[in-house]
Order: sequence, then C-alpha cells, then structure tokens
Amino acid sequence: MRRSVMMAPSILSADFARLAEEVESVTRAGANWIHVDVMDGQFVPNITIGPPVVASLRRVTDLPLDVHLMIANPDRYIEDFARAGADRITVHVEACPHLHRTIQSIRATGAKPGVALNPATPPEMVRWVLEDVELVLVMTVNPGFGGQAFLPRTVEKIPLLREWAGDRDDLYVEVDGGIDPSTAPKAVKAGADVLVAGSAVFGRADRKKALGDILEAIAHI
Ligand code: DX5
Ligand code: ZN
Repeated sequence: MRRSVMMAPSILSADFARLAEEVESVTRAGANWIHVDVMDGQFVPNITIGPPVVASLRRVTDLPLDVHLMIANPDRYIEDFARAGADRITVHVEACPHLHRTIQSIRATGAKPGVALNPATPPEMVRWVLEDVELVLVMTVNPGFGGQAFLPRTVEKIPLLREWAGDRDDLYVEVDGGIDPSTAPKAVKAGADVLVAGSAVFGRADRKKALGDILEAIAHI
C-alpha cells in the first residue's frame, strides 16, 4: 500500500530575515519536513547557508530537517550538519567518488542518509547503495536555483528505483524542483512520495492554500 505523500517546503524561497516565522507558517499549513538547501558556489553556481543556520532552525522547529547538500566534497561537513541538528543528510552522487563510504559516515552520525541525482545522472548510479540509504532525491530541475521549470523526463527514473528497491517500501523517493499543482501529479504517479516545493509554497502569501493546492492535485492518484 502506498504511504501518504510528505510535503517538504524548501526554505530557499523563504524570507531569510524571518526564517522562524516562515517555518512556523508552513508548519501550521501542514508541512511534514523542512527542506534545507545548502549550496557552496562550487558544486552549484549559488551560495546559500551552512551549519549555523541549521542549528538556529533546530531551535525553532520540531519538524525533521531534511538537509540537501549541493556542495563539493560533502564528507568535510557531514559531522557539522549532523551536530547542528540535521535529521536527514542527502549528498549528490556526482560529488561523491566513494559514495558508499560517505553514506556510512552519515549513518555514523545518527542522521538518515540520502542520495541525490542530477537530471542528467542515470539512476544506475545509486543502484548498488539503495539498501544503504533511507531516501533517493530525484532532481527535477538542475540544482542551484529556485523557480525553475520542471523537467518531465527526470521522473522516468522513479519506477526503476522502485523496482530495484524491491520490497523496501520504506525507501523515500523525493522530487525536488519545479513542483507545483500541475507537476506534482506526474511525480507522484511515477512513484515519488516526498515533494519538495520552494517557490510554489513560499512564493504565495497563503501557505495553507499553497500546500493544499498541491495536496488536492494529487489526492486521487
Ligand atoms: C534547487 C533546490 C530546490 C529548490 C526548489 O536547487 O534543491 O530545493 O528550492 O525550488 P522550486 O520549488 O522553486 O523549484
Ligand atoms: Zn533541494
């Protein structure tokens, strides 16, 4: 049986000067996780936040902090993010030559490991570590910026991941980028069960309506 779909608003599109209120608003609107986009200006052409912001968020929310590391050589920072309070730490396979070892070091901190795939990266790249992770993040845009257009072919990877995961129905498949009421159904039909949404949530004043519109669009899938 399919689990219910998790909503993970990305604070990338929130007002960074009012993060606590922004998180509070999506919590009241029914968010399940808070998605935190970490960018280093190397792996992606944009710079965002680091462990101190995760530590501050930890103090103002009980929701799981879903930390998406879009950084080169993420091994250097895994412990810092875990200590700051990340519940989930997801690394990009393109940034990890020793992916299995990186996954083990995330697990050693107590955080739940995830692996992310850029749009051009084949799903085969995570096939042999699927049993070691809790989540696969399928990028549905090229990472780096909020507000980009959803790339439809990316979700074709999801049925393959599900097939390879076999009876592991606890494996989350998360989609990230361009998710809104018109694209979410495509991702959920393909088998996604965590929806990251930045601009479609924080770009609207009524957060309850923003999340509600996405949930309504997938209600009968
Ligand atoms: C993109 C980030 C996303 C981003 C999504 O690199 O990983 O989490 O915030 O933003 P939207 O939903 O606006 O595409
Ligand atoms: Zn993200």
